[in-house]
Amino acid sequence: MLSTIEPSAASPAPGTRPEGVPAADAPRYVRAMFGRIASRYDRANHWLSLSVDRYWRWRAARSLERLLESPAPPVRPLERRRRVLDLCCGTGDLTLALLARGRGWEVIGSDFTHEMLLLARAKADQRRQSGARWLEADAMRLPFADFSADAIATAFGFRNLADYRAALAEFFRLLRPGGVLAILEFSEPSLPLLGPLYAWYFHRILPALGGWITGSADPYRYLPNSVTRFPTPPQLAAWLEQAGFAGIRFQRFTGGIAVLHTARKPVSS
Ligand SMILES: C[S@@+](CC[C@H](N)C(=O)[O-])C[C@H]1O[C@@H](n2cnc3c(N)ncnc32)[C@H](O)[C@@H]1O
Repeated sequence: MLSTIEPSAASPAPGTRPEGVPAADAPRYVRAMFGRIASRYDRANHWLSLSVDRYWRWRAARSLERLLESPAPPVRPLERRRRVLDLCCGTGDLTLALLARGRGWEVIGSDFTHEMLLLARAKADQRRQSGARWLEADAMRLPFADFSADAIATAFGFRNLADYRAALAEFFRLLRPGGVLAILEFSEPSLPLLGPLYAWYFHRILPALGGWITGSADPYRYLPNSVTRFPTPPQLAAWLEQAGFAGIRFQRFTGGIAVLHTARKPVSS
């Protein structure tokens, strides 16, 4: 049984809180920050993670495929194309990894940072990976009807949302009964040797390196701070359960540096 974690009445809704930024301004701050580094975002990602980030997204896409194509009874006819949303898609790496599964899904990459979406579309064109649709929208308020998605995925984006519980409620609204959710996020590894070593890299080295690669140190100070404040994997699992999801699982990758949560909206909902 998962433990439940309730915020105290006085505490604000849990969500990203960039240092020195009022809660109400957090989404604007986050969008401007990603807009500033968009053109160098991919390079920084691959260099700072030694390209392991590609493997994490591949694992996320594969897990989502297995869940989506496993025989939970679909509510709609099987011949309908499945709609898969990649929220906070950034430059589209997960969107394109999902498209590459070759399942004929309708894949939509959505983000609220215009610069990121332009790069995502250009990347798809460059790789001749046609078929994805791109949508500029806030992941907290998506322009889709209830029950209109078969799957929702998000990689390294959920942590940046202003209110995690409200976001989970929005994802639940969008998914059809039986639909699946996959959230890939950073976490803090707690292994005896890796934990302290990674903390040193993440809090000391990465901000300097990230600043050097992108010309903007702010996002790479924000990154470790936001990961430290992000719920632990069991906490996020508890919130998913409270939001109504079932079949909640989490898998730790690379010693727990990244964690993939998967869940299903109950068929009876
Ligand atoms: C760290 S990047 C992750 C990008 C991509 N998913 C990846 O795997 O590299 C976070 C992305 O989330 C987007 N984002 C943050 N808050 C958002 C929101 N409320 N609605 C839509 N996109 C958001 C940012 O614009 C940014 O592109």
